[in-house]
Amino acid sequence: MPDSLQSLFEANSIAIVGVSDDPTKIGSVIFSNLRQEHFAGAIYPINPKYSTIFGHPSYPSLLEISTEIDVVCIAVPQPVVEQVIDDCIAKKVKNVVIITAGFAEVGNAGKELEERIAQKLKNADIRLLGPNCLGFIATHNNCNLSFAASTPKKGNIAFLSQSGAFCTALLDMAIPKNMGFSHLISIGNKADIAENELLRHLAQNPKVSVLGAYLEEIEDGRELLATYQNLAVKKPFILFKPGKSNEAQKAISSHTGSIAGSYQTFKTAVSQAGIILAPTIRATLSLLMAFSWLPLPKGDRIAIITNAGGPGIIATDTIIESGLHLASFTDVTKEQLKNSLPPTSSLHNPIDILGDALADRYQIALRAVTADENVDAVLLIVTPQLMTQIEDTAKLVVNTAKLVKKPIIPIFIGGKYVKNGLQRFFDNEIPAFVEISDAIETLKQLVMYSTNTPKLSPAIATKSTLASRLSAVTTSVPTVLSNSLTEELMNEFDIRLPPQKLVSSIDEALSFAQQYGTAVLKAPNEVITHKTDVKGLYLNLQNQDDITQAFNELQQNIAKATGKHPQSLLIQQQMKYKEELFIGANRDGDANVYNGSGKGFGHLLVFGKGGIYTEIYKDHGMVIVPANRQDFLSALASTKVVQILTGARGQKPLAVDQFITTLERLQQMLLSYPLISSFDINPLAITEKEVFALDVKIFCNH
Ligand code: COA
Repeated sequence: MPDSLQSLFEANSIAIVGVSDDPTKIGSVIFSNLRQEHFAGAIYPINPKYSTIFGHPSYPSLLEISTEIDVVCIAVPQPVVEQVIDDCIAKKVKNVVIITAGFAEVGNAGKELEERIAQKLKNADIRLLGPNCLGFIATHNNCNLSFAASTPKKGNIAFLSQSGAFCTALLDMAIPKNMGFSHLISIGNKADIAENELLRHLAQNPKVSVLGAYLEEIEDGRELLATYQNLAVKKPFILFKPGKSNEAQKAISSHTGSIAGSYQTFKTAVSQAGIILAPTIRATLSLLMAFSWLPLPKGDRIAIITNAGGPGIIATDTIIESGLHLASFTDVTKEQLKNSLPPTSSLHNPIDILGDALADRYQIALRAVTADENVDAVLLIVTPQLMTQIEDTAKLVVNTAKLVKKPIIPIFIGGKYVKNGLQRFFDNEIPAFVEISDAIETLKQLVMYSTNTPKLSPAIATKSTLASRLSAVTTSVPTVLSNSLTEELMNEFDIRLPPQKLVSSIDEALSFAQQYGTAVLKAPNEVITHKTDVKGLYLNLQNQDDITQAFNELQQNIAKATGKHPQSLLIQQQMKYKEELFIGANRDGDANVYNGSGKGFGHLLVFGKGGIYTEIYKDHGMVIVPANRQDFLSALASTKVVQILTGARGQKPLAVDQFITTLERLQQMLLSYPLISSFDINPLAITEKEVFALDVKIFCNH
């Protein structure tokens, strides 16, 4: 697909419709921002009331301009916008930016107008940014086509935002910290240009090395993952997405007219794809800054230099908690430190150069650890004592950082006394922190980005012999599959079930038990979906009396709950096993989610400690489909039950390999039958040798 966004962000001619002689109106602010940045192309203010405005020739309408126009920025009231759009089409402009609010975000009438305008522009092959947006800033083109209060310096961060206010707030924090941006793009209601296309466009720009976004709603989940994973040049992508709680989701609907997806699915999916999730605004800023300025660490071995014991301990704790490691220094480093630092210094990691340290001690320690091959990154902690040389220390860190290819992250803990030191770092493009945990969380993300290479999971060959039968029973509301169809599905994907049979008489049940021993009697799924609603499960049936009694009781329970006498009951062999696990899945998006015509992230596979206390333990690993074996293993490693599976307290390890294979097979089932909206296998029994599904419920809908 040709990149049609170049003429927008590298425009040569821009018209602004709605510039007023009142300098405080939005159209006038945009006009003034564009001129102030010395935009080199042609600028055409449009307003029928003036022939010149702020000393610049003004035009009554777009149609009066004789030359080509790359971008038209519209800042007139909502009822006038459509007329201006018609002029844009008549003038054959290339791009339109609609600043005006009052479209999909305010209800159906606005939505209809927005859709009509977007369709008109699409038919005319004109691209649209917005409506309801702040505009954009493309610093390398000296183009500030927004009503933001300030323009950042030229840099390598490209940031897009669904909220204009987030852009301006971010800028207000970023500019004093000297952060440089290539682009700041407010996407508003995304009636045409949305995040995936922008990511592709921005990532292939050599001036962009960090991608960032604030997104309230993801247009197309799977496409976002594929877009990021298929970028020709890998670049870090820092994403901040609100909307975790139901309350926040309501606010989102009224704010942008869009609906947020399920946060857990989103989080699992984007993390699996290697996208970096920022939990807060502060973290967003720190991550953008760190990825923009720092070299990437080659590994996770961290050296700490400190002039205070306490912060050294805090940093050590935080490093361990975060999964990073303290570096073990080489003998050469130890020798150097021993020869040059006071004898009471602590020469192990963290290196404590003592409270009275001047800049020279920092210099000695920093030189030694940056040269050490066992060190991948350095945290340099300063607390301000009376003699502490804040600015000299900052100066030497700046000088050293210019010479080494390892990240050095200063943490200057304090307020008034450390302020100038921090500012010197920002002025020299070094991310610096006051809070230890902020620094380490940022460093952790640098390490993870640098050392993990998430790969697109291989396409999985799919079977679909039961497709037509599944379709036949599927409606738009989730419907549970019958036990017999469930069993066929399990057989197709080699998921072992216990010996089981649908029986319609006590005699049949008894002859099953004669063959298989101790039995379990259950209500079939299609009769009672939730067996806790009614006593629908009888375990440990040892003899004829047990079976007869359970059979009769279960029939009565079902008849009472459903008003119908059940035709058959499910009898199973009672299996012996070591541990109960569970595997479940839930689909984000509809049944077309994998074939390109649907939207969403697809199935989230969840697994962990099973049995009746699953909800209480909440011990879950999660992956988004498709995942590879490594993804499954990493997700399993995040659970507690993995300790039992791998042999806690001298127990023999259980069949972890078969468990992962079971996950892979179930994933294949989901990809083969995307009609499956959710399933639950609980318990999934595991022994030292095998895994079998004791209770399986599968739901389908379109
Ligand atoms: N062509 C050119 N100019 C036109 C016009 C047309 N067809 N119709 C009106 N104008 C002029 C007006 O005469 C006025 O100029 P004037 O002051 O010289 O009379 C100028 O355009 C602006 O119109 P005005 O009616 O004064 O509107 P406004 O500036 O108060 O508000 C918007 C216009 C677009 C800013 C406002 O409708 C809006 O949507 N505000 C919210 C924007 C927002 O929050 N966006 C999302 C940010 S994240």
